[in-house]
Amino acid sequence: MEINLPDNYCKLEDTLTSADKILTKAVDDSKTLFHTMVVSSLDGEKISSRVMVLREFNLEERKMRFHTDYRAPKIQHFSNNSTATVLGYDPEIKIQIKLQGKITPHYNDESTKLAWDGSTPRSKKCYSVKGGSTKEIHDPKDFDIGDFEVEEGYKNFSVLIFSFDTLEFLYLKSSGHRRAIHKWNNGYESSWLVP
Ligand SMILES: Cc1cc2nc3c(=O)[nH]c(=O)nc-3n(C[C@H](O)[C@H](O)[C@H](O)COP(=O)(O)O)c2cc1C
Repeated sequence: MEINLPDNYCKLEDTLTSADKILTKAVDDSKTLFHTMVVSSLDGEKISSRVMVLREFNLEERKMRFHTDYRAPKIQHFSNNSTATVLGYDPEIKIQIKLQGKITPHYNDESTKLAWDGSTPRSKKCYSVKGGSTKEIHDPKDFDIGDFEVEEGYKNFSVLIFSFDTLEFLYLKSSGHRRAIHKWNNGYESSWLVP
């Protein structure tokens, strides 16, 4: 699916429309750089960031979905403090999108069942790794997934729902950089920012 983006941004609403098109396309298009975004959490006082596959984007509901292993440390981060930032950039279109909000981890509920049923066997396979994500190990070969029962992975599967209340759009172009913020706090507000 090709998307049409403006060459120049003169209207604030165009920045939101473009962000919507980019992130909607990124869900199914593994070739776009927005398919894998940087998701940051707070680990006590430290920031912890990692790349994750964007599984769903819904601007109307201001929601993103990610999948992860329930044994991963980030589950604890988001349970202790739900604050989160999601960031992506694609040099081909010269656009950075940064969203701020809160992440709720889900485990063995309606949303995990739905997401699991919608996953391919290849995606499901990762959740059959023994020992738990991030455990220190002696030999990684011992943790290669050989024989596995695909549905066994469900017990380690978690869905992260990111609900965002700001979306920042940055377009870097020599003819004039454009930066815009969209906020949904008490109602919706948007503004240009100095880039
Ligand atoms: C291209 C790419 C895609 C990734 N997708 C995911 C993902 O969708 N979910 C996930 O939990 N980790 C994903 N990872 C691995 C994470 O970046 C990270 O290493 C792992 O989740 C452990 O993170 P944590 O220790 O911060 O919890 C991906 C890594 C790469 C390089």
